Amino acid sequence: MGPEAAKWLAGRLPQLRQQHDANWVVVNAENSAVTGPSPMNGFGMTADIVDMLIDAGVDVVTGGNHSWDGPDVDQVFAHPRVLRPWNLNETRGQGLITVERAGSVLTVVNLLSPTAALPGMLSPVPEPLWPAWQALERSGNLRGAVLIDLHGESPWEKASFATAVDGKITALVGTHTHDPTLRGHILPKGTGYVTELGMTGRLGFTGGGFDPVHFAHEFRNEGTSELPPYELATGRLTLGAVVLSVSAAGKTTHIERLS
Ligand SMILES: [Fe+2]
Repeated sequence: MGPEAAKWLAGRLPQLRQQHDANWVVVNAENSAVTGPSPMNGFGMTADIVDMLIDAGVDVVTGGNHSWDGPDVDQVFAHPRVLRPWNLNETRGQGLITVERAGSVLTVVNLLSPTAALPGMLSPVPEPLWPAWQALERSGNLRGAVLIDLHGESPWEKASFATAVDGKITALVGTHTHDPTLRGHILPKGTGYVTELGMTGRLGFTGGGFDPVHFAHEFRNEGTSELPPYELATGRLTLGAVVLSVSAAGKTTHIERLS
């Protein structure tokens, strides 16, 4: 949430990486460009923030419904380690990446649920998740350990997707709602599942990284022209993250939440 949190995370990453013996680090950065009172185009990510995260040891950067909102969209989409959602009609960028290092192979897929593509957003309309999964499976591109960042509103949808593909992917981690869910789950056939990763940023008083006053006004139907701008929350910084331990066969064996 915002450049300050991205910088804070970048500063801590080398140590976190070492501490948890992490082979791969994947970060969702779709709100990293938010700087305070801003219109919708203050969301998304900037090329500078992406470079900072990659320099700090991030291997893959994922996005979501705000992937189209940043000031450097073309540049960010052209970055070889940045994903935007896979299941929509967009010629720029990529929604799937396979990375390899020292015999370890990881494929990351970014999916956007229609539940998180709200009216008025700049993102194209995503295709439904199940046909998207079937196309992914047929593509033959799911190599090595497979991690899906499923960007969606609904916990039941995320749990249903994870259960439907249990044993076929290494892990499904939900993003978008920002408030972390407590437990990680290992499904019967070895797929790791986390409903909501959470966010890295200032907690405020509802935990989403935004000052919720804007949303409260919207909830009370107080007219778009009278809405106060989006603002980042204040308060202490928090880390929204999980560590997944993965077997050589690509099954999740342990999930630890970091906070
Ligand atoms: Fe989102």
